[in-house]
Amino acid sequence: MKVTVVGAGAVGASCAEYIAIKNFASEVVLLDIKEGFAEGKAMDLMQTASLNGFDTKINGVTNDYSKTAGSDICVITSGIPRKPGMTREELIGINAGIVKDVSSNLVKHSPKTIIIVVSNPMDTMAYLVHKTSGLDKSKIIGMGGALDSARFKYRLAEALGAPISDVDGMVIGGHSDTGMVPLTRLATRNSVPVSKFISEERMDQVMEDTKVGGATLTKLLGTSAWYAPGAAVSGLVQAIACDQKKMFPCSVMLDGEYGLKDICIGAPVILGRNGIEKIVELELNDAEKAHMKESAEGVRKTNDLLEL
Ligand code: LAC
Repeated sequence: MKVTVVGAGAVGASCAEYIAIKNFASEVVLLDIKEGFAEGKAMDLMQTASLNGFDTKINGVTNDYSKTAGSDICVITSGIPRKPGMTREELIGINAGIVKDVSSNLVKHSPKTIIIVVSNPMDTMAYLVHKTSGLDKSKIIGMGGALDSARFKYRLAEALGAPISDVDGMVIGGHSDTGMVPLTRLATRNSVPVSKFISEERMDQVMEDTKVGGATLTKLLGTSAWYAPGAAVSGLVQAIACDQKKMFPCSVMLDGEYGLKDICIGAPVILGRNGIEKIVELELNDAEKAHMKESAEGVRKTNDLLEL
């Protein structure tokens, strides 16, 4: 199993690190445009191999896509990250050009690859890859919901005063401060609806904290987060590499599901060796449907800024 991660910044390096630590891939190619940068990150990470007990080989390369040839999975993290006060949508101008170039270079050398898009505005970048790469829609996956759901579970555990292993929950919709749809109605603590344990008011707070999860960290860190994004990507990569048939909310091209068409937006999918093997349609209530519709309108507005 060969995995390429494009962008050796904090998110890309974290992806490579978590993938390597989980020890299921034979090779991770880390590619960056900055001379020597990916080589340095790869060497540093490889020097953790004996300490962390992994055999995955991490190879750093400067912009040499020939080294990515034959990748089973490629992760795109390239582009500029958010600064405090910025929305993900504001990154579109610079990131669209970068993501288009990167995906075309990747597909040239790995025509059968599965692509995971991380760069923001993520749903729109996934849509761009759909429109420009020629890959089948089952092979283009936007990473947002897995991260947003992890942040949701963190906030739920905090509100419940429970360990995270006790809680389950999922965030669908767009990967943006206003677009996320945390499914509070379906969130559980050991199969019991969380509404049994916390008030509606507290739940609203959990929902708000989840939606601004990325912005909160950007404010604290001065740039966007990397540990949870990296871990979320590694979960998707592992589900595909190990054919786990695991369910994650991911940004996926919809064709009528959830009443939406021609849009990449977060919905639960089953991930296995073929990429997106199934889109799971949940029965949403009226409020959730309205929230999803509004979220889709936001994503479409950003998609309209693309020059396709
Ligand atoms: C975040 C970025 C990865 O939410 O979108 O942290």
